[in-house]
Amino acid sequence: MNENWDFIRFKKEFYQLTGLDLGRYKDRQMERRIGQLIDREGYEGLCSFFNDLKVNDDLLHKFYNYLTINTSVFFRDSKIYDYLQDKAIPDLLNSFKHLNVWSMGCSHGEEPYSIALILDRYSALQRADIMASDIDDKALEMAREAKYAPNQLEKVPPDILKKAFTQQNGYYYLAAEYKKAVTYKKHNLLGSIYGNISLMHLVLCRNVFIYFKVDVQEWIVEQVSSLIHPGGYFIIGCAEFINKPERFKLERLIPSIYKKTG
Ligand SMILES: C[S@@+](CC[C@H](N)C(=O)[O-])C[C@H]1O[C@@H](n2cnc3c(N)ncnc32)[C@H](O)[C@@H]1O
Repeated sequence: MNENWDFIRFKKEFYQLTGLDLGRYKDRQMERRIGQLIDREGYEGLCSFFNDLKVNDDLLHKFYNYLTINTSVFFRDSKIYDYLQDKAIPDLLNSFKHLNVWSMGCSHGEEPYSIALILDRYSALQRADIMASDIDDKALEMAREAKYAPNQLEKVPPDILKKAFTQQNGYYYLAAEYKKAVTYKKHNLLGSIYGNISLMHLVLCRNVFIYFKVDVQEWIVEQVSSLIHPGGYFIIGCAEFINKPERFKLERLIPSIYKKTG
């Protein structure tokens, strides 16, 4: 499978191509998943796979999908969204005039749009700036388009589905007012552009950092928590965990939901 390249060479070339340091992902998991993708797509090995990655955007998108199991759905994990809708978002709307929200590793937009749909329930869409970011250009392009297969919308409450989507040719299209509410940009969680932005009131970084090495996870949690306004919320994935959150001035309210204390 390896042709004449090993993973060290592949990671080096990939870093030069994309600026993403694969060395900061968990090695065995990442190497296994890349190996699976190479076999599945029928490449001889890492070198020919890389040569195609350079010229084929769809393959690069598939690669990012494979790296982090890119599936996402609207209102993923009911417990979390129930808490957001019934407690966290009302609390934020009571405490702050304007909310800055950031969905990091937003995939195809399911997560930031779910937040927009909840805010709309409180007639508060105009009171928030929702930013969403991902490393994957193609995912961002699809997020901006906001066209979804029915299985991505299974958890959307029926009243919201009716109000916010139109159905055509087997797909659901999100209404323009919600699309406009979210600003997408490319951002690498491993990069260093965390500074120079307004403090956030709600940050979602879900099902992304579990793929990174433990020291990298800690670094990300430190960066992200420093961006959160006291009283703001930090939401992570259900399989993710922040060890000793008080180090980052975070209090665990329920699993996956943290509040910035100071
Ligand atoms: C499993 S999806 C999570 C989607 C959504 N947050 C959720 O929980 O449903 C992981 C996303 O993280 C993105 N990702 C992977 N590495 C990243 C990095 N270094 N910086 C930013 N995004 C990254 C992937 O492209 C993918 O869209």
